[in-house]
Amino acid sequence: MDTAQLIDGKAVAANLRKEIAEQVKLRSEKGLPAPGLAVVLIGEDPASKVYVGSKVKACEEVGFVSRSYRMDVETTQGDLLALIDELNADAEIHGILVQLPLPKQIDVQSVIERIDPKKDVDGFHPYNLGRLAGKAPTLRPCTPYGCMRLLKAYGIDPMGKKAVVVGASNIVGRPVALELLMERATVTVCHSKTQDLPAELADADIVIAAVGIPNFIKGEWLKQGAVVIDVGINRLANGKLTGDVDFEAARAKVAAITPVPGGAGPMTIACLLQNTLEACEAMEA
Ligand code: GUN
Repeated sequence: MDTAQLIDGKAVAANLRKEIAEQVKLRSEKGLPAPGLAVVLIGEDPASKVYVGSKVKACEEVGFVSRSYRMDVETTQGDLLALIDELNADAEIHGILVQLPLPKQIDVQSVIERIDPKKDVDGFHPYNLGRLAGKAPTLRPCTPYGCMRLLKAYGIDPMGKKAVVVGASNIVGRPVALELLMERATVTVCHSKTQDLPAELADADIVIAAVGIPNFIKGEWLKQGAVVIDVGINRLANGKLTGDVDFEAARAKVAAITPVPGGAGPMTIACLLQNTLEACEAMEA
């Protein structure tokens, strides 16, 4: 049996980062400042530390101003909001990212809503989500934006296709459904209460998997010739990373699939850089 085309997110992300670095260079030649991103990490969550480290490194590689703020796990909501107020007023900073999840004493929605929507490079503020829902996106959530850019890079047009999103999180599932709807796909969003997931997937042309459970989606559930974007990044007991889709079984059946790692993950960070550049340019306009 044929095996699926691999959707190489690492390569697409590297191209985007290169384009962004060129823009930064052009800006500098015109005497314009480098875009600046502030990343805030609270506590010691090991996965969050890795993600934040990658974000800071990616900023430096494209020539952005990068600032990193570490706060204690006991940090109060008031202290975090005060830092956000400072960063909102800081002219050198165009993007603010508070790494999630947050410790339980902090209300995540209050934090998201405190960030100036113009600096909300995560695209989580209700203003930016509302703009996406209204087909007039401003800053867009990075992982969904990355999924759409991957589809585009491989010439996959969602228009008229059946797209099934598995997972309804605020970070991926919901916003990626809005992205697909904007591209005029017929969109179904499945989640933990969905009664018959295999039946929902059986006629899906595009599958976006974002549940966070290793090998949750079986190859036999997928339609022959489907396109699969696997957003899951799950660490197994043996230390290996794996997606939400049973990759080997899926690969024998579908037309194209993202590997994990090297698929959607690298696009998330590249889109964060893209958003920071867009935020910076929008502030100058
Ligand atoms: N934690 C997991 N994904 C994300 C993300 O895209 N942004 C932030 N801020 N935190 C996250």
